[in-house]
Amino acid sequence: MADSFRVALSGDFRKPDGTPTFPDFDVAPLRDHAGVEVVFLEPGPEIKAEQVADIDALILLVPRFSAASIPASSRLAAVARFGVGYDNVDVAACTAKEMAVVITPDGVRRPVAAAILTFILALTGKLFTKDRLTRSGPEGFAKRTDHMGVGLVGKTLGSVGIGNIGAEMFRLARPLDMKFIAHDPFADAAVAKELGVKLVDLDTVFRESDIVTVNCPLMPETRHLVDADRLALMKPTAYFINTARGPIVDQKALTRVLQERRIAGAGLDVLEKEPPDEEDPILRLDNVIFAPHALCWTDQCFAGIGAADVRAVLDIMHGRQPRGVVNREVLSTAGWQRRLAGYASRFGA
Ligand SMILES: NC(=O)c1ccc[n+]([C@@H]2O[C@H](COP(=O)([O-])OP(=O)(O)OC[C@H]3O[C@@H](n4cnc5c(N)ncnc54)[C@H](O)[C@@H]3O)[C@@H](O)[C@H]2O)c1
Repeated sequence: MADSFRVALSGDFRKPDGTPTFPDFDVAPLRDHAGVEVVFLEPGPEIKAEQVADIDALILLVPRFSAASIPASSRLAAVARFGVGYDNVDVAACTAKEMAVVITPDGVRRPVAAAILTFILALTGKLFTKDRLTRSGPEGFAKRTDHMGVGLVGKTLGSVGIGNIGAEMFRLARPLDMKFIAHDPFADAAVAKELGVKLVDLDTVFRESDIVTVNCPLMPETRHLVDADRLALMKPTAYFINTARGPIVDQKALTRVLQERRIAGAGLDVLEKEPPDEEDPILRLDNVIFAPHALCWTDQCFAGIGAADVRAVLDIMHGRQPRGVVNREVLSTAGWQRRLAGYASRFGA
């Protein structure tokens, strides 16, 4: 099979009994594509260079891909992460070897935006409280009037970040008839305008929103971006939702604000430490709804992530620039363009 385009999947895509880790990830369009050979690597904490020496593209789940994972053969063209995080990939090392690192924003956009909507509706509808009231029988029913929900029409939905997920959240929330505001230093003004989102400074998001959502990446500049001072700007009736990354929020400060009921509540899919310590005081709060960094996990989410990786890998095979490239500077290098031209001439454009 010297002429095939060889795609490796990291070993953790199969459970020890050989069944797929994510059954919704459909490998068939790749496996059945003429000229493609799919192989599963032996599992391990880090990809070894010899495992990928005769591989064209690697689809990577959890193992590390470090500088030492890059084979001397220089055949490997791309590392495609299954998801959008890529802290397990040494991107600089890949860039130095003119290899593309690909992620799958197309796969997570809708599922995470839907997860934020889930939090918005559950928090403002007091869903969990009303669930508890119902379970406590007549006594619970008698307390119904003490737990009014919050109507959303005319209220302000704010976002820290209006990228892939932030924009989709506003898109999905359009029928709710809310006002939309966002802060994003790199916002695409045309996207904001099209969605009816007013771009404002960061403090305004906290001061004016009835629901503050976090949709920016975790970077040195955004670590503890949501701190005691910013939380102090929020209205006592406002809700805080984080589905981005835990360390963007100073969780001790958030815990205090929630304990003192200085905001109405929170929906948290992510925490500073995951899983959290069992004695973490935030877990005792009744004004927070949690999810274990998995609220967006659905059949369609993993199908979409897998489909995005498959599409990227097949694009490369046919000499097309893939979507979702993290180290975009690679795409204009002579080495990368030579690779693509070589694939196009072997497998057809
Ligand atoms: N909970 C989950 O399962 C899950 C799944 C996927 C993604 N995420 C997280 O969701 C977040 C958003 O992902 P995305 O795909 O929309 O990313 P994205 O890169 O498309 O968008 C992020 C936006 O944040 C903006 N930004 C950067 N610095 C900022 C700052 N200081 N203040 C405000 N905005 C800033 C960027 O300009 C960009 O527009 C990320 O943190 C990602 O890790 C979570």
